Amino acid sequence: MCGIIARIGHDDAAETLLSGLENLEYRGYDSAGIAVQNGSGVKVHKCSGEVSDLKSTLDVHPNGNMGIGHTRWSTHGPPTDENAHPHTDTVGDVAVVHNGVIDNYDELKADLKANGHEFESDTDTEVIPHLIDEYRTETGDTELAVRRAVDTLEGSYAIAAIVDGENAVYAARKGSPLVLGLNDEEWFLASDVPAFLDYTDEVIYLEDGDIVVLNPDSYRITDLEGSPVDRPVDTVDWDPEDAGKGEYDHYMLKEINTQPTALSNTIEGRVEDGDVAFETLPADSFEDIDTVQFVACGTSYHAAMYGAQLLRTAGVRTEVIRASEYESMSGPVDENTLVVAVTQSGETADTLDAVRRATDGGAQSLAVTNVVGSTAARTADDAVYIRAGPEVGVAATKTFSSQAVTLALLTQRIAADVPDATPAEDRAAMLEDLENLPQHVETVLETSQAEALARETVDSESYFFIGNGLGHSVALEGALKFKEITYEHAEGFASGELKHGPLALVTEQTPLFAVATGDDKKTKTNAIEAQSRGAPIVAIGPDEHPLVDVADTHLSVPDTHPVWAGLLANVQLQLLSYHAANLLGRPIDKPRNLAKSVTVE
Ligand code: G6P
Repeated sequence: MCGIIARIGHDDAAETLLSGLENLEYRGYDSAGIAVQNGSGVKVHKCSGEVSDLKSTLDVHPNGNMGIGHTRWSTHGPPTDENAHPHTDTVGDVAVVHNGVIDNYDELKADLKANGHEFESDTDTEVIPHLIDEYRTETGDTELAVRRAVDTLEGSYAIAAIVDGENAVYAARKGSPLVLGLNDEEWFLASDVPAFLDYTDEVIYLEDGDIVVLNPDSYRITDLEGSPVDRPVDTVDWDPEDAGKGEYDHYMLKEINTQPTALSNTIEGRVEDGDVAFETLPADSFEDIDTVQFVACGTSYHAAMYGAQLLRTAGVRTEVIRASEYESMSGPVDENTLVVAVTQSGETADTLDAVRRATDGGAQSLAVTNVVGSTAARTADDAVYIRAGPEVGVAATKTFSSQAVTLALLTQRIAADVPDATPAEDRAAMLEDLENLPQHVETVLETSQAEALARETVDSESYFFIGNGLGHSVALEGALKFKEITYEHAEGFASGELKHGPLALVTEQTPLFAVATGDDKKTKTNAIEAQSRGAPIVAIGPDEHPLVDVADTHLSVPDTHPVWAGLLANVQLQLLSYHAANLLGRPIDKPRNLAKSVTVE
């Protein structure tokens, strides 16, 4: 759960490394560091805290045309200056940044210590520069030393290294993402494209087992034995502006407000003449499927619930399983099972593990992801992209909307193939209303009263969210978003479950946000029960919904097909969470203890 970057060119690297790290902070932000070198020693600067703290320790940027950088989310050892990356060998000639987990670091460290290596940190990473140093001494060849070092490692890694006196960056990946960025002047390596999107959109997605050597005017990719490997150059269709904060105070607010554009991109070209078409999924792709399992974590799980309900309604046997529980929750799978991994980043370890378990059992697999070239996209048999553009705020917003729409379309596509399934009867009306969804979201953004409501409710004891049918997943997502960024107690329930326990917690100090979008049957009666125990009721739905008449407050959404109404309610709940967190002075884009990309199980 860290971000790494490397850059080599002809002019100084430090500024580029620091700005790249800022764009990678969504991956972790408890410590940061860079190392640069210009032929007269490797200079390391690192500290606990955010990239802004690192910058404030640098009066002048160190010189050097090549360097590496890291933003950390601690797994081995607390966030201290010593544990911050880059780490070096004993004399400081080799500096390394690493994303991943080295499982056998204890025994490697003991062996290296026995050979006289001195360690300064608690991290697993620190063994890597020492190993490279050890093998350099043995072989006199740094590239060979890097290959041997990574061959010794068990676990997952994306690493980048620089070595004193060498005009080169060395890198390798296994199990953690690493992308090479190319332009006419310089080369980059990073955990994710936004790190260098200001400089280039030409990329190579590296594969597990790849070793990379960058020199200022050339790059080479080999396998672990040193044989050349050919990887295609892709062009990323993300705009550099998408990765910045623009005029907004927070990435989250920007990402909420850019949902109309994100959704237009998600939908574009996928609905033709009343039919759903996906570029990578020709007709009959799913004709031998009899069961679909959705696997996901966090916000993506809620989007998966949304999609799963639609697929069930279409008559396809469907399960939705939290990826971290896949081992215990999944029954047997076979070649007629389709596992759909829903993951914004495409790198969530629990989700990837679930896909591997399912495919080992013979299932077919499909990744629904935002990141081209991500591990999920490459691990699954096929990938469908949600096309939301880069999302930097830790709290997922626009990717939820784009995932839910992609999944709703996918369910229609699957139901068209699976024998005995029935695509939605009113599919034409549903798809017609989908075209209006970006405009409806725009209306919600322009007219929302969520900020005023946040002011009224922000001193409450707890916040409850209920919904029924498609509204259930929206209620769960509303509560997750609220607790993630406000640090206040928030819980989401299926409307009918409220009376089976949670009602004991309801008082006049616990506002109840009821998602009332039209496909719900039980929300009104259960909301009224809570109201009669004193809870203020907020209805989130179209003006005509019966709950609106009895609710104390109403967050309105435009009238639309029930399949899309929940997504409009969700935008209101995103705004509510954002404004409540803002009023409470929380660090909205980097909430306490959370990271956007969770690459450990
Ligand atoms: C983390 C993030 C969540 C995200 C979840 C799944 O927990 O903080 O916002 O929903 O990971 O991420 P994915 O990339 O798989 O969608």
